[in-house]
Amino acid sequence: SKYDFGLVGLGVMGRNFILNVADNNFSAYGYDLSEAQVKALEVEAVDKENVKATTNVEEFIHALKTPRKIMLLVPAGKIVDHAIENILPLLDKGDIIIDGGNSFFTDTDRREAYLKEKGIHFFGSGVSGGAEGARKGPSIMPGGDKEAYAHVKPIFEAVSAKYKGEPCVAYLGPKSAGNYVKMVHNGIEYAMMQLTSEIYDLLKKSCDLTNKELHQVYETWNKGRLQSFLVEITAEIFTQKDELSDADLVDMIMDKAKQKGTGKWTSQNAMDLGIPVPTIDMAVSMREISALKDERVQADELYSRPEVAHIAKEELIAQAEQALYFSFIIAYSQGLHQLSFASKEYGYDLDMSTIAKIWRAGCIIRAGLLADIAEAYTADNSIPNLLLSPSFVPKVQDTLPAVREVVAFAAKNGIPVPGLSSALSYFDAYTSTKLPLNLIQAQRDHFGSHTYERTDRDGIFHTEWGKK
Ligand code: 6PG
Repeated sequence: SKYDFGLVGLGVMGRNFILNVADNNFSAYGYDLSEAQVKALEVEAVDKENVKATTNVEEFIHALKTPRKIMLLVPAGKIVDHAIENILPLLDKGDIIIDGGNSFFTDTDRREAYLKEKGIHFFGSGVSGGAEGARKGPSIMPGGDKEAYAHVKPIFEAVSAKYKGEPCVAYLGPKSAGNYVKMVHNGIEYAMMQLTSEIYDLLKKSCDLTNKELHQVYETWNKGRLQSFLVEITAEIFTQKDELSDADLVDMIMDKAKQKGTGKWTSQNAMDLGIPVPTIDMAVSMREISALKDERVQADELYSRPEVAHIAKEELIAQAEQALYFSFIIAYSQGLHQLSFASKEYGYDLDMSTIAKIWRAGCIIRAGLLADIAEAYTADNSIPNLLLSPSFVPKVQDTLPAVREVVAFAAKNGIPVPGLSSALSYFDAYTSTKLPLNLIQAQRDHFGSHTYERTDRDGIFHTEWGKK
């Protein structure tokens, strides 16, 4: 008999996802151009009768039940278009293609329109959770044609992560809503990773914490309100030994971070929308600064930096916990602010509490905090920014004295905390009734007659500056 689900691209993610589908009693057929990838799946699926794979595209397509449900898990960009063209001539009207990769959202809109003309349903779906998530339960963020989604829904709900029994998948909205939400998820991911690493730097430089102690700190934090996947894996990273030297592996890793673009896209699109996400921007910039290793080494020799003052461990650890908690909230606030604005701009009609809910398990940014965020949006889905949610005011307020201490300490001692300080400055600006941008308006009008508004009268004004 024919198979329930098809998967194109049997790399680690694809292989794990298809095994997950099979574990949930749906039969699945994999397809990859590479014989080696097909073999790799066959080896892992020896004891499973409901999984098969092939390098033959006809065999693949004809093995699937109609309407065919075919998921692509291939790298974003041209490869997605190639994968589509490869199967397209063999498909029947009504078949469904799901792009599970990190495709840029406008590519998804283009592909959806193109395939619609041919009678094929196409939808973009974010999948988060890395290789392990794909195998055991990812968070899945589908968007697009709602009718087509109904065919895939039972499979996605079965394979997804569960939060207290609730599947971490939901139809999010039309067009590229799924890819857009996943893109912003990744922007938040970049910010949280940057913040976690700044706190590590601070603890290490000012208290000489050993990796063993750092492990304990992050492990303890993971049991409290900072409970999150990223804090959990950070704790684990500090215990990993290098295979050859028995040194701690983290100390042997080059401090140059790579990126595949989703964080940058989040920042670029936030700029287009006019929504500030400075902590995400800063996280992208820091990956770029990290890559400039040779220049950093040169510059380090040209300038002296203050000797780092050593302070009491317990006190710093307690303050750092507050700083990380505060800045995680800011990272989510910025990303979610962007999402709620984009929702109107692009007609996604996103339900913010649903997004927070499906992020509570399975994805890389899963955290205890997301349950609070989901509640805040359940109470009021229309808040533009989490900082305006009454339930978040005390959470944020209480951390501020410690956050200010940590940022000031880092500044005084020459420890870079651009993510954390951007989060604090963003907070201070966003919560200020009065900002000094009146001066910018005056300058604009002074040199370019760009006009300004006044606080005491309605209208548009221009002044001949300097004339008495
Ligand atoms: C996820 C991740 C994943 C992403 C990696 C790598 O949610 O599982 O976001 O989709 O590809 O995090 O991203 P960078 O290479 O850009 O760091």
